[in-house]
Amino acid sequence: MDFSLTEEQLLVQRTARDAAERLLAPKAAARDVSGEFPLQELAELAELGLLGVAVPEALGGAGMGPIAYSLAMMELGRGDASVAVAVSVSNMVAELIATNARPEVARQWVPRLVNGELVCGAFALSEPESGSDAAAMRTTAEKRGGTWRLTGAKQWITSGDRAGALVVWAVTDVAAKHNGITAFIVPGDAKGLTVARLEDKLGLHGSSTAQLVLDGVEVGEDQILAGVGRGFSLAMQALDGGRIGISSQAIGIARGALEQTIRYAGERQTFGQPIIKHQAIAMMLADAATWLDAGTLMTLRAAAAKEAKQPFSQLAAMAKLFSTEHAWKICDHCLQIHGGYGYVRDFPIERALRDVRATRIYEGTSEIQRLVIARNLLRGP
Ligand code: CAA
Repeated sequence: MDFSLTEEQLLVQRTARDAAERLLAPKAAARDVSGEFPLQELAELAELGLLGVAVPEALGGAGMGPIAYSLAMMELGRGDASVAVAVSVSNMVAELIATNARPEVARQWVPRLVNGELVCGAFALSEPESGSDAAAMRTTAEKRGGTWRLTGAKQWITSGDRAGALVVWAVTDVAAKHNGITAFIVPGDAKGLTVARLEDKLGLHGSSTAQLVLDGVEVGEDQILAGVGRGFSLAMQALDGGRIGISSQAIGIARGALEQTIRYAGERQTFGQPIIKHQAIAMMLADAATWLDAGTLMTLRAAAAKEAKQPFSQLAAMAKLFSTEHAWKICDHCLQIHGGYGYVRDFPIERALRDVRATRIYEGTSEIQRLVIARNLLRGP
């Protein structure tokens, strides 16, 4: 098995690391307090090609694969998790449109998503009454002449108030259940699309999370992705890829926390020596480093399977489950090692713990990942 990275993948990793250290990390603590949306940062990341790492070059992307994308997400997560989640969702939306829209429609949206003109993309699947059970959505789309009218509400929409383009799922045929759900591209400034509420969250304060209302939003037939009734499996496919992004984000957050903690444990003295020399601390760090390595490998393995066009749904679910659950444990160990200093804002650890908590929930909770894994086990090899 070859674990080496190509020159191009290393270049994307270096670019993202440099951007994270130069543009994101210095303002991450202030953004956590102010809740300011990272408009400028997204524009600069777009300029560096990081809003379309895996998007084809013909549509303005970097034309790299899922491995490069995962490496970039790890670096951005390490710099500022709030910015990383906006980038992750935007990449997912750009890829979704690039692969499933008519060519002229893809050309209408994707280059502007990638170059930052549209700020970012948003993925509007969840609703107030349907999160894990995505097929239970109630937003409807009714056809009138050549136009579809979308009516309903969407919940937990990352960047929902800022995105220039959203993919919105709606029921077009109730009786057809999963096969009666359709995905539409909706412009951020569409008439009838409003922000009903912005969530006040535990962490990820620099990322906006919106409740959206669609009141007869009109969308042309050509803005349907993959065809009427094809939306549910499209959402599932997009989430399979998105879960690699969130797994990478969690790894990045945990890596940042662990690096900070190793430095701290080498400097902080108790009982006449640096605390890293105490076995109780060393054992926690050893566990954390091992979990981090395992999560990184699982994430890159899922990305490699996607890159090789092999089935990767199960691998992505396993990677997200393991990485996010262990990233949470790593951040908790890091906080414990910092003692009281870990619990206050002077150190970045309490922010990492608050930020990483969301990764166990969005793009499929850990329970949903287990469900996906178990269903794949039942299906057999
Ligand atoms: N790829 C392609 N098709 C798939 C698929 C996949 N990975 N998984 C399922 N499907 C297809 C099935 O083949 C089936 O098709 P047929 O009807 O033609 O046979 C159809 O979809 C229905 O499949 P299921 O019976 O498995 O569907 P279900 O209703 O039992 O739900 C689920 C499955 C896995 C629980 C799914 O609802 C799910 O993933 N839920 C979690 C939703 C989620 O992750 N939401 C995240 C919101 S987005 C977000 O968080 C973004 C953000 O802003 C940060």
